[in-house]
Amino acid sequence: MTAGTETVAGLFQAAYDADPGGFWRAPGRVNLIGEHTDYNDGFVLPFAIDRATTVALSPRDDDRIRLISTFDDRVVESDLTAVDRRQFSGWSAYPLGVAWAIGERHPDARRRGFDLAVDSDVPVGAGLSSSAAIEMAVAVAVNDVWGLGLDRAELARIGQRAENIAVGAPTGIMDQSASVFGERDAAVFLDCRSLAVEQVPLGFDAAGLVLLVIDTKVEHQHATGGYRDRREACERGAAALGVGALRDLTVDDLPRAEQLLDDVTYRRVKHVVTEDARVLQSVAALKAGDLNRFGRLMDASHVSMRDDFEISVPQLDVVVETAQAAGAIGARMTGGGFGGCAIALLPAGEAEALAARVLRVFADRGWHEPVPFTVSPSDGARAL
Ligand code: GLA
Repeated sequence: MTAGTETVAGLFQAAYDADPGGFWRAPGRVNLIGEHTDYNDGFVLPFAIDRATTVALSPRDDDRIRLISTFDDRVVESDLTAVDRRQFSGWSAYPLGVAWAIGERHPDARRRGFDLAVDSDVPVGAGLSSSAAIEMAVAVAVNDVWGLGLDRAELARIGQRAENIAVGAPTGIMDQSASVFGERDAAVFLDCRSLAVEQVPLGFDAAGLVLLVIDTKVEHQHATGGYRDRREACERGAAALGVGALRDLTVDDLPRAEQLLDDVTYRRVKHVVTEDARVLQSVAALKAGDLNRFGRLMDASHVSMRDDFEISVPQLDVVVETAQAAGAIGARMTGGGFGGCAIALLPAGEAEALAARVLRVFADRGWHEPVPFTVSPSDGARAL
C-alpha cells in the first residue's frame, strides 16, 4: 500500500467500520502552455503531476451516500434524491456533483449509493487542479462500481459539468482531461473542441531538466471575479468577429480584430489567438527535441498573460523574472491566474538554488513565503 491508500483505508475503516471495496487515484496537473484557450475551443498542453487524490469506495445496496475526507474528518451524508435536486455544499460538491452529472448525462445509468473516503496531496488553491483530481478519482471509481463503461473523454466531460454546475466555476475541460489522459514522461496535447488527445513525450529527464513549481500562496477563486470576466470578454470578442469560438481565428485575423474591437477586448482576443499558435509551435518544438525553443514559447506566453490577458500578479511576475535571470530555459505562470503557481524549466542541478533565491526575493519584499517543489509527468486516473 502507498501512503495515500493507507490513509484512505484507515479513514474508511474508522468512519464506516468496514474495509473499502477498492482504491482509485487521479492526479492534479500543471499546464505547460495554452492558458485560457480551453473554453475558447482551442489547444492546451498540460501534464498530470505526481500528486494525486486517492479514494476508497464501496458501492451500497441503497441510495445513501456517505463521504469522509482528510479535509474535515466529518462524515457528510446525502442520497441520490438530494443529489438530483442539486443539494451540494463545501468539498462534498465535488464527489456529489460527479454523481449528479452522471445522472444528468446518462439518465439510464443504474446509480446506487456509496461510501467514500478521500485524501489528497495536491495542494488546494494553488492552481494545480486539486478539484479536478477529486472529480476524476470519484468518476473513475464510480464508473467502475456502477459498471458504466464510460470512456475517458466522457469522464472528463462529467467532471467539467460537476465543476461548472455543482461547484459553480465556469471553467473549461483542460484540468479533468489532463487528470484522465496523463502519461508518464508525456504531456497531454488536447484539442478542446474535438477532445482529440495526443500524448507528447517530453524527455525532460533525459535532457537533465526539471520542472520547478513555485506556489506563490496568493489565493485565487475561479467561481467569481476575474476568470469569469475574461471568459465573457472572449465570448464578446468571438461574437463581434462572427466566429463560434476564438479557436476559429488565426494571427492573420488580428489586424481586423484590432479595428473592430475596443482595446481591452482586442488584447483578450490577441492573447487567446497567439496562445493557441504557441501551443501548436510548442508541440512541434517538443517533437523536434528543441527544448530551448519550447522555453522561449513559455516566456512569450507569460508576457501575453501579463500584458494582454492581464491575469498575472506581481508575485508571479517576480518568480518568472527571477527564474529567467537564473538561467531557466523557460518560465511562466500556470493555470487560471490571479495567484497560484509559476513554473520554470531548468537544469536539474539548478533547481535548489533557484528555489532558495525565490524565497529570499519574497522575504525581502515582505511577501508570504512561497512553496517550491518539482513535479514530474505522471500517469492519469486509474484503479489501484
Ligand atoms: C483553470 C480552469 C481551466 C483553464 C485554466 C486556464 O485552471 O479550470 O479550465 O481555463 O484555468 O487555462
